[in-house]
Amino acid sequence: MTPQAEAPTIPQGLIEKLRAAKRVAVLTGAGASAESGVPTFREAQTGLWAEHRPEDLATPQAFEKNPGRVWEWYEWRRSLIRDVTPNEGHYALARMEKLLAGQKANLTLITQNVDGLHQQAGSQNVLELHGNIQRTKCAQCGNVATHWEKSTSLPQCEQNNCEGLLRPDVVWFGESLPLNVLRQAIATAQGCDIFFSIGTSVLVQPAASLPAMALEAKATVVEINPNPTPITERVTYALEGLSGDILPRLVARIWD
Ligand code: OAD
Repeated sequence: MTPQAEAPTIPQGLIEKLRAAKRVAVLTGAGASAESGVPTFREAQTGLWAEHRPEDLATPQAFEKNPGRVWEWYEWRRSLIRDVTPNEGHYALARMEKLLAGQKANLTLITQNVDGLHQQAGSQNVLELHGNIQRTKCAQCGNVATHWEKSTSLPQCEQNNCEGLLRPDVVWFGESLPLNVLRQAIATAQGCDIFFSIGTSVLVQPAASLPAMALEAKATVVEINPNPTPITERVTYALEGLSGDILPRLVARIWD
């Protein structure tokens, strides 16, 4: 990416559409947290999957085989996430939700991220498609608990003397997404006027189908990403750049 490409102009047509919008949907991926210092998954060199094989760390089979190794990796990610803060892009989305509410419109934020940074920045209407890394879930009884703190041994479920092993409450490869959350995300994509796809490679299903659903429902679809994705050619506006740069400028152009 050239330095000039980092600051695309905000199209006038988009500004007018946002001023008139009643229902705004936003899908975010790892790129939305990149400027906070959280690594993405698929970027060459820096992505988590460039260094590790997902099947060794992010599948139920991997946990069954070696829960200690899986926990070690998740504990590293959890400590990394605990130490970072939301970036300007997160704050702009939280601000956009409030400003839209002021014009009797709503914003639903659908995120594939498990880091909780959108909520930390003040977003309220958030659908977590892939869970949350700070929560745990019992691999045996499914009971969800919050904020397990690091311990030396493998954490166990304390619900009704279950004693099953606790795992991170995130969606692993080969697992289904929480059905209720997925249903709400689909309804949001199909019922919005404007759909933003931000910082995602749009490769992992079923989240990757949401922008196409919005396009089919005749929504204006906006992509914010420094790199092209499978949907770049099809969207209404492709804004090539960083979410931490583009989103605050977009919000300022409309509401300041
Ligand atoms: P990826 O790592 O696949 O894609 C990150 C995207 O963010 C890329 O398209 C980058 O170009 C873009 N990007 C990087 N920095 C950016 C920035 N500052 N602003 C805007 N965009 C930027 O991450 P996801 O699409 O989120 O699933 O991956 C989807 C899922 O695959 C994840 O939720 C995770 C992973 O395996 C599970 O763990 C179930």
